[in-house]
Amino acid sequence: MKMAMIVAMDEDGCIGNQGTLPWRLKSDMARFKTLTESDGFNAVIMGRKTWDSLPDAFRPLPERVNIVMSRDSEWSAEDADTALYDGRAIEIAYAEACDECWVIGGAQIYSMFLERVEEVHVTTVHTSGSGDVKFPEWDRNTWAEEVVEKLAADEDNAFATTYSIWRKL
Ligand SMILES: NC(=O)c1ccc[n+]([C@@H]2O[C@H](COP(=O)([O-])OP(=O)(O)OC[C@H]3O[C@@H](n4cnc5c(N)ncnc54)[C@H](OP(=O)(O)O)[C@@H]3O)[C@@H](O)[C@H]2O)c1
Repeated sequence: MKMAMIVAMDEDGCIGNQGTLPWRLKSDMARFKTLTESDGFNAVIMGRKTWDSLPDAFRPLPERVNIVMSRDSEWSAEDADTALYDGRAIEIAYAEACDECWVIGGAQIYSMFLERVEEVHVTTVHTSGSGDVKFPEWDRNTWAEEVVEKLAADEDNAFATTYSIWRKL
C-alpha cells in the first residue's frame, strides 16, 4: 500500500485559519479529489479537527475510506473509522485492502506521519501570513522535488500556485 501526504501551504507554511482553509482554490480542490480517489480504492487519514472542518456535502469524502484520528475513545461518526493512534489508522487502511493511503491533515496529523510517507504532494500558494496553523518543521534535504504544474491566479483561484511532488531519497 502506497502512503502519501497531500497539503496546500502558503510561502510561510500556513495551512489553516480558524479551523478552515485560508483560500479558495478550485484547481487545488479538483487535484485533491483526483489524486486521493485515483483509479483504485483508497483511504484518507485526517485529524478530528479537519473532519469537523469539512462541509456536510463532503463528509465523509466520497469513494474513499475515511479514517479520523482522535484521542477520545468515545468519538465516532457515521461513515468514518476512528483511530486512536497512528498504527491503528494504517492498520484500518490495510484491513480495507486499500491501494493508497493519503494523509490529508491537519498539522497534528501531518506531524505524526511525515516520516512514514514516501511522497508529499505540496501545493504552494503564493501568498504569506494566511493563517494560524502551520505545516510542521520539515527537513527537505532528504527529499527531491519534482515541480509538476504552475498556475496563475484567476476568478476561481485566489492566488497563483505551484504543485510539486516531493519524494523521499
Ligand atoms: N491546507 C491544507 O492542505 C489543509 C489540510 C487539512 C487541514 N487543514 C487545516 O488545518 C487545520 C486543522 O489542523 P489541526 O492541526 O488544528 O488539527 P487536525 O490535525 O486536523 O486534528 C487534530 C486532532 O487530531 C487528534 N489527534 C492529534 N494527535 C493525535 C494522536 N497522537 N492520536 C490520536 N488522535 C490525535 C485530536 O483529536 P481529539 O481532539 O478529538 O482527541 C486532535 O484534536 C484547519 O484549519 C484545517 O482547515 C489544511
